[in-house]
Amino acid sequence: MADLLSQPMLGGLTRRGLIERLGLVGGMGLMLAGMEAFGFGIASANAAPPALPGSGAGKKVIILGGGLAGLTSAYELSKAGYDCTILEARAFAGGRSQTARKGVSMTDLTGVTQTCDFDEGLYINHGPWRIPYHHRSTLHYVKTFGVPVEVFVNDNDASYLLFENGKGPLAGKPIRKGQVAADMRGHAAEILAKLANKGGLDDQIGAGDKEQFIAYLVGEGYLTKKDLAYVGTEGRGWDVAPGALMDPGPGKASTPYALTDLLHSNLWKTLASVSPWEQQRTMFQPVGGMDQIPKAFEKRIGNLIKYSTEVEKVTQDASGVTVLASGPGGQKTTYKADFCICAIPLSVLRSIDMPFSAKFADAVGSVAYAPVGKIGLQMKRRFWEEDDFIYGGHVYTDNPDINSFSFPSTGWLGDKGVILGYYQFGANAAKISALSPADRAKFAVEFGQKVFPQYAENYEKSFSVAWHLVKYNLGGWAEWDEDGRRDAYPILCEPEGRIYLAGEHMSYLTGWQAGAIESAWGQIAKLHKRAMAA
Ligand code: ALA
Repeated sequence: MADLLSQPMLGGLTRRGLIERLGLVGGMGLMLAGMEAFGFGIASANAAPPALPGSGAGKKVIILGGGLAGLTSAYELSKAGYDCTILEARAFAGGRSQTARKGVSMTDLTGVTQTCDFDEGLYINHGPWRIPYHHRSTLHYVKTFGVPVEVFVNDNDASYLLFENGKGPLAGKPIRKGQVAADMRGHAAEILAKLANKGGLDDQIGAGDKEQFIAYLVGEGYLTKKDLAYVGTEGRGWDVAPGALMDPGPGKASTPYALTDLLHSNLWKTLASVSPWEQQRTMFQPVGGMDQIPKAFEKRIGNLIKYSTEVEKVTQDASGVTVLASGPGGQKTTYKADFCICAIPLSVLRSIDMPFSAKFADAVGSVAYAPVGKIGLQMKRRFWEEDDFIYGGHVYTDNPDINSFSFPSTGWLGDKGVILGYYQFGANAAKISALSPADRAKFAVEFGQKVFPQYAENYEKSFSVAWHLVKYNLGGWAEWDEDGRRDAYPILCEPEGRIYLAGEHMSYLTGWQAGAIESAWGQIAKLHKRAMAA
């Protein structure tokens, strides 16, 4: 999911520097194109659905899968006049874009059923849960449909880090992230500033730049101007916070951790000077749960969806596509269409009888899907807010069976809340998913207790998902490796006869709703062009 454009330096030129040059040589148009290409977001082919000029009236499109890619395809194509039908295996649309709240039930491949019993108004987004500001395709539908959103707090200096495998006095203790960030930057800036000051960096920094460089380090590391020393900063928090009158009065400053203790603790591993491209400090979430987005689609095109309908076999010839599907009562129905958008995850598509060439079928089979686990833990009191003043964000740990746990970005200052109790991937997700739901909760609560002594006494109930055990997904998201991207992905991007693949797997935004939406936009544009040319 990494994005090259997120790298601050390209060929020795900063992104901003390159953009300034584009402005100088190419005028405003080129400059705007450059700004978009380099992630400053002025205009984008991914910001709005493709124009579909002309009319698709009289043409039928069968859409396999009612996740975000299928919904997007049906919504846009039917606006352009096409006669669309979505076949959706579940009794609801949205694919992985789900929200667990009271009454939501899930049976996994091992036959275990969980029915969410959270209190009214509480929920966990056990699929997608956050939207970056630059996922303009997702935000396009949020805005078009008027889905209310709120800020998702994706980084919080007040939150804790817990690293049990480090060494020294900070290992195994919850430490506030902001303290680690301030102290590491402060110590590093002090070392560099002092070295620069005594000429130790003269072969790297020209004499004309030295003063500015040191001034930058003083600001970056909160150093004293006189001694270039880091002695702490109020931003790392106070031992006694300032207040009124004489007590607490001016408060009492806190003492930084020693560099050696920080280094040995490994806590610095969680730091980054800027957020990764996909993980901005603040993001968005729909008010009331991520499923508000598919529900908004359903309000508009729900009449096109055949629910509880499993695709069994697809055939095609020069004139069209035929789909045999089994409906809610097990009845078989045959659907005929001119074109097909297939938005079924590749992990599932592999076992459906499809009319693919050997080359195409090999490509479908060549991508791995990520095992992913999440658990929602209903807490009877928002102790992280009330006692520890943490409003949203994550606790990062060095235990890969937990990875991180997270506080809700909704219901602030309310009574109860649902914590995301773990979010693991790969072998760790596979391992934890082998536990019963009750044991998964027990494990998550026992771990949380290491950070918050109030955890266990406040725990009420849980809902957990292991996406690799979910029948219609068989994994959290597609994980392309280099070979697959080079050899298989380009094959799948082209239609196989009259069948076009869409879904997050058909993008470089795997694991994001934007990948599903944008792949649909790309494929319907191709399909429409072909239909209009026929
Ligand atoms: N897009 C997924 C997330 O935000 C991977 O956690």
